[in-house]
Amino acid sequence: MEVEIEKMVFAGSGLAHLDYGEPLRGHDQSKGKALFVRKVVPGDIVEVKLVDEKKDFAFGVVEKVIKPSEMRIDPPCKYFYQCGGCEHQNISYQNQLKIKEELVGESLLRNKIDAKVLPIIAGSDKEFFYRNSIRYMFLLDNKNQIQFARHGYPDDRELVAVDRCLLQSEKSNLILEKLRQYINKNIVEKKSLWQLKIREGKRTGDVMVEIITSSDDLPGKKGIVDVLKQIDGIKSIYHTITPAKSLLKLRRRLIFGSPVIQEKIGSYTFQISPESFFQTNSEGVKTLYDKIKEFANVEIGDEIVDLYCGTGSIGIYLSTLAKKVTGIEVVPEAIRDAKDNAKINKITNCEFICSDISNLAIQQYNNCILILDPPRAGLSKDLIGKLTTDNWKRLIYTSCNPATFARDLKYFMEKGITAKKIQPIDMFPQTHHTELVAELLKKD
Ligand SMILES: C[S@@+](CC[C@H](N)C(=O)[O-])C[C@H]1O[C@@H](n2cnc3c(N)ncnc32)[C@H](O)[C@@H]1O
Repeated sequence: MEVEIEKMVFAGSGLAHLDYGEPLRGHDQSKGKALFVRKVVPGDIVEVKLVDEKKDFAFGVVEKVIKPSEMRIDPPCKYFYQCGGCEHQNISYQNQLKIKEELVGESLLRNKIDAKVLPIIAGSDKEFFYRNSIRYMFLLDNKNQIQFARHGYPDDRELVAVDRCLLQSEKSNLILEKLRQYINKNIVEKKSLWQLKIREGKRTGDVMVEIITSSDDLPGKKGIVDVLKQIDGIKSIYHTITPAKSLLKLRRRLIFGSPVIQEKIGSYTFQISPESFFQTNSEGVKTLYDKIKEFANVEIGDEIVDLYCGTGSIGIYLSTLAKKVTGIEVVPEAIRDAKDNAKINKITNCEFICSDISNLAIQQYNNCILILDPPRAGLSKDLIGKLTTDNWKRLIYTSCNPATFARDLKYFMEKGITAKKIQPIDMFPQTHHTELVAELLKKD
């Protein structure tokens, strides 16, 4: 059936309406059920096939573009229409920014958030090759040859073999090529090879490679290490074992080099362990942290509490004027990195504590500047309740998920907190993700 894509909505989907069925709540009631289609552009007229249909909404995939939108461009990546990795390569970057800005505005409006929303800014001028980490699946074809694969489109349960990704660096793509050549030529028994993870310090040139297998042995281990070692910047190689093929139950063995790699943000250096979270856009993160710094407006003698601190990077970045920085994070290896990072940067006013935030007695952090950077799921109502009874001076909330960010801001507002300003930042070009930073204050 033929439909016109009206606009982009959540998770990179375009919205159209069918001329039958019940309209969704909040949608134009004169139209039929809502139809969500990915890899489309607002204004496209497309022929779609329905793949899942409910009472008031349906999902479709494009069979043919009948009339392309004026915004539509040719995606530079040859896998774009088979790979589920990104959604917006068929939209020019300026239009991607406009779409993200509109979506943030709509999400805030839906949650009745009354705040000054600043125009979106790009994290860096790199629209491609910006990511510093990626995970591939090993895919064995019927000639017993391995390929590297990503989750596919439209069905993310299928794997699609790729030989490069335009969001990574060319060095990461070279690693794929060298590993594929070596393994296919020299290793017969390949079934236990499960995943490959590559992490880079884009500003230091350091690279960490992790090969994940489902059995204790890494076939051809010595040869693999020899091949990888020849690539410029390889600092660290891990063999990780997970018999149950689960990323929750694994054992890591360092098989070459250093246990950590380093990355730089501005003039600070950060070490990163394989277990630790680190922002994926190494250049964009400086824009993000500069904005957090501006909103936090730290004055001499202030105390900063950095919740969900990861490797301590935000706290350290903001530490210059502060009397004290306390970072809290649940992953022990990230806390070890954070402590080492304070030493590496010769910073003596930072303390890092390994704890689950939900177990914290937040009230002890009176009159501090509170930084919150939770995972995509956002904050619990319970934690927001605790935080609102506390007597902090200013709260900076940063998030990469506009939906949970808006939901959490709504809870904060119900508890008498106001959002002074909100800054959307595009840290994830070609994908539907947007980073947000808000300054929250207590009502006088
Ligand atoms: C979005 S990352 C932010 C990390 C850091 N602020 C940065 O900029 O790199 C969220 C962090 O929260 C941590 N985390 C998740 N749940 C947590 C919890 N319940 N308590 C403490 N830390 C948690 C994760 O391990 C991760 O390091």
